[in-house]
Amino acid sequence: MESLSDYLRQILYSPKLEDKLVSIPENIFLDNKFFEVKDFPEREEKISFSDKKSKIPRLEHLNSEINRAISIHHFANHELMAIELFAWALLKFPNMDDKTKLDTLKTISEEQKHFLMYKKRMNELGLDFGDRPLNQIFWKYTKYMTSFEKFTSILSISFEGANLDFSLVYEKAFENYGDKKSANIMNQVFKDEIKHVKRGLNFLESKKKNISFWEYYNSLIEHPFTPRRAKGFFYIPETRRKVGFEEDFIFQLGEYKDEFSNRKKEIIPEELLDCGIYTG
Ligand SMILES: [Fe+2]
Ligand SMILES: [Fe+2]
Repeated sequence: MESLSDYLRQILYSPKLEDKLVSIPENIFLDNKFFEVKDFPEREEKISFSDKKSKIPRLEHLNSEINRAISIHHFANHELMAIELFAWALLKFPNMDDKTKLDTLKTISEEQKHFLMYKKRMNELGLDFGDRPLNQIFWKYTKYMTSFEKFTSILSISFEGANLDFSLVYEKAFENYGDKKSANIMNQVFKDEIKHVKRGLNFLESKKKNISFWEYYNSLIEHPFTPRRAKGFFYIPETRRKVGFEEDFIFQLGEYKDEFSNRKKEIIPEELLDCGIYTG
């Protein structure tokens, strides 16, 4: 029987993409061996991180196939980093309860599914994963993830939270440009991410003392990481209601601004406005 830690170490420290996408073995043994974990994953040349900038195309440019492929390439990169980081967190904080471990494994398997859907679609649109520079945005914050609570605030409440806005907006945008196939993938991702953020929220709620969730969340993150990271460049409050956040949190997040907020406003195509974008 394969142990949890062997499985996780394969995801993190095998440089091969296919080894990071292997399904969770049935009857996996939930050990809680402690390992010194490195704060970066091994990756073969084709999928290694790059400092070269690759900008995500603007919404109004998604009428072109290659721009849709580049957007999907960005999302796939986020999925792969999420797979690795959940594996990292399970190894780094081995003393969490079995339910949290199993929930996190479920999330890993869904991120693997998302990655594979994105990869297949970008291939159909003429791009392969690794053809474009891969940033390491999620990995930059491991130094602030010194507990599973802090990890959850950054990865689940913030990055996966923001992905709720992105997946919904891009679903509408792809549909708007007649790409039903890509839109359907975003819809599937959106539905799963609701579950992932909910897992994060439930875990933190179980640890929270007598303060609001907004206060608790803010007590777990630290500058330069701010709540701005917990929303997309558009914020869709209804998605956070679906997860089950307190109204106060939903409101405070909508109002939150830091020095990098709205540096350059996106133009929102008229047709997309009906998905509940917050213009606050
Ligand atoms: Fe995902
Ligand atoms: Fe997720």
